[in-house]
Amino acid sequence: MDVFDITGGNRLRGKVQIGGSKNAALPIMAASLLLEGETILHNVPDLQDVRLMADLLGRLGVNVKRIEPNILRLRVEDESNCHAEYELVSQMRASVCVMGPLLGKRRTARVSMPGGCAIGVRPIDLHIHGCQALGADYDLVNGDVLLKAKKLVGGDIFLGGPFGSSVTATENILMAAVLSEGTTTIECAACEPEVADLANFLIACGARISGHGTPRITVEGVESLHGVEYHVIPDRIEAGTFMVAAALTNGELDLLGARIDHLVAVTDALKRIGVHVRRTSDGINVAAARRIEPLEITTQPYPGFPTDLQAQIMVLLALADGNSILTEKIYPDRFLHVMELNRMGAQIRKEGPTVIIEGVKRLVGAPVMASDLRASAALVLGGLIAKGTTKVQRVYHIDRGYEKIEEKLQAVGADIRRSKGA
Ligand code: EPU
Repeated sequence: MDVFDITGGNRLRGKVQIGGSKNAALPIMAASLLLEGETILHNVPDLQDVRLMADLLGRLGVNVKRIEPNILRLRVEDESNCHAEYELVSQMRASVCVMGPLLGKRRTARVSMPGGCAIGVRPIDLHIHGCQALGADYDLVNGDVLLKAKKLVGGDIFLGGPFGSSVTATENILMAAVLSEGTTTIECAACEPEVADLANFLIACGARISGHGTPRITVEGVESLHGVEYHVIPDRIEAGTFMVAAALTNGELDLLGARIDHLVAVTDALKRIGVHVRRTSDGINVAAARRIEPLEITTQPYPGFPTDLQAQIMVLLALADGNSILTEKIYPDRFLHVMELNRMGAQIRKEGPTVIIEGVKRLVGAPVMASDLRASAALVLGGLIAKGTTKVQRVYHIDRGYEKIEEKLQAVGADIRRSKGA
């Protein structure tokens, strides 16, 4: 298993190219199940999760080829298999995104029920509820969700859960609805840019969708959808991670391709902390503050502060001049990084879904263990500023969502090396 050895203290300066969004690319790839003809996707990051989705789609009869490093070609060749098996679903929760398009196009979806993961229990009741509301029959067979429908008919579907909207449930119902009869209205739809990107992709394929990017999405069913050429949006979480990296290391980075309109809450938080953030002609410029101000942040569905940047901003607040409060409203247990950051000298105390962060003057290098994708990113960030060497173990977590992160960091001055661990 690979490890990162990071020697902290270097100022990061220069340009970083932000890649395509993982969480937009995965459902868009799954949407290829709905299409007739060939689709070419540009700006698809070369990540482990993308490779797993390609593998799953391959088993479901889609010919997926990476024709250039960030370009995929997809074409459905065989519609006989409708089963996303445990072996793949257990490796990647986003596999659940094939449920909507399988049901929508093949009228049968059999998807292994994903279990919990490091960031929480993560149920899929809203996905099932939405499919049932379109007319599908549901059964649980040997740990698999089995959905079947002779025909799907649109209606009014409420997709709010105890923690608000759901990103992949909205995406699944959108994908199930585009080939349904009549009009579907999704209320309490997720507003994340990745949902809007999927809708824009489907519109380019011939779907009739309006309201995407708002809590009410309307879909008028169509008979069929065709393949297209499409560019996936840039990854706002990768961009946000590099914004924190610049702020932490007293550096200045130009994030090429990043979209500040997708990062309004993050920009606002960083500005309150004292960081300088501005839109440029080709992305975002971030310059560190002399002093890091403490802050109170609560994660929320978009456009609120994203849970996927909670761990990263925590590292910055750990070094603030005062006490901060960070509350997690999406995944109340997404705090596995806290103990690891404390091993590096942070003073963070968890109380329920909230952490109280007492700012310290410095972090110190230590061997730490990555537990999930974003927690691993936080440990790398901690290593960049810690005194001495930090060894981050199990970096396969970070490889799921950040393309060549160590190369991008090295290019702007970080001392980070990948090696084969024990
Ligand atoms: N929820 C339910 N029932 C459901 C679905 C969700 O109660 O049927 C709850 C969840 O437990 C959570 C909340 O609703 O408390 C929101 O979860 P959501 O369904 O929006 O999460 P997701 O769709 O499974 C996506 C991203 C995650 C990101 C979340 C929140 C993808 C492939 N994954 O997950 O990304 O954290 O939205 O923004 O889009 C990551 O990239 O590191 C990652 C975990």
